[in-house]
Amino acid sequence: MKIGIIGAGNIGSVLALRFGENGHEVRIANSRGPASLADVARETGATAVEAREAVKDADVVVVTIPEAKVPNLPKDLFAGVPASVVVIDTGNYYPQQRDGRIEGIEKGTPESRWVEQQIGRPVVKAFNNNYLYAVTLSRARYMI
Ligand SMILES: NC(=O)c1ccc[n+]([C@@H]2O[C@H](COP(=O)([O-])OP(=O)(O)OC[C@H]3O[C@@H](n4cnc5c(N)ncnc54)[C@H](OP(=O)(O)O)[C@@H]3O)[C@@H](O)[C@H]2O)c1
Repeated sequence: MKIGIIGAGNIGSVLALRFGENGHEVRIANSRGPASLADVARETGATAVEAREAVKDADVVVVTIPEAKVPNLPKDLFAGVPASVVVIDTGNYYPQQRDGRIEGIEKGTPESRWVEQQIGRPVVKAFNNNYLYAVTLSRARYMI
């Protein structure tokens, strides 16, 4: 499959490695552009691209960025992406440690429903129960 990953941190880079090892064609993006992802591309075998390029022609898209950054994604990122493309959301909400208060979630909207509202697409929540902080890719590949 062609898999686009938005977010190249702890989760995104390990998913890129594992998907690639399992024969998938992986493109990966962050907010700073592909030049900033040279190391990730080399270590995972994924192709570093802009976010729009990551979702283009993908069979599956993984959104794996901090919850508070989701509204920063380009508003029309999924315009033109067929409804059949599965969008996976790995996000967890950390109001105290990272995200600050997100009004909609605080008022009771489940996290992934809130993400759906931001990106305008249904999502499947997955991989958010894997704990992966500051581990090397060689170790992390056994954790997802
Ligand atoms: N790590 C875990 O163990 C774990 C477990 C379960 C769930 N999660 C959840 O999974 C998500 C990702 O976690 P993580 O630990 O992988 O985060 P991380 O290591 O902080 O990486 C976040 C990535 O998102 C990118 N990013 C931020 N804003 C962006 C934007 N607007 N457009 C594109 N890319 C953007 C960052 O790149 P730049 O800022 O450089 O652009 C970075 O590559 C979070 O919601 C987290 O709560 C993580």
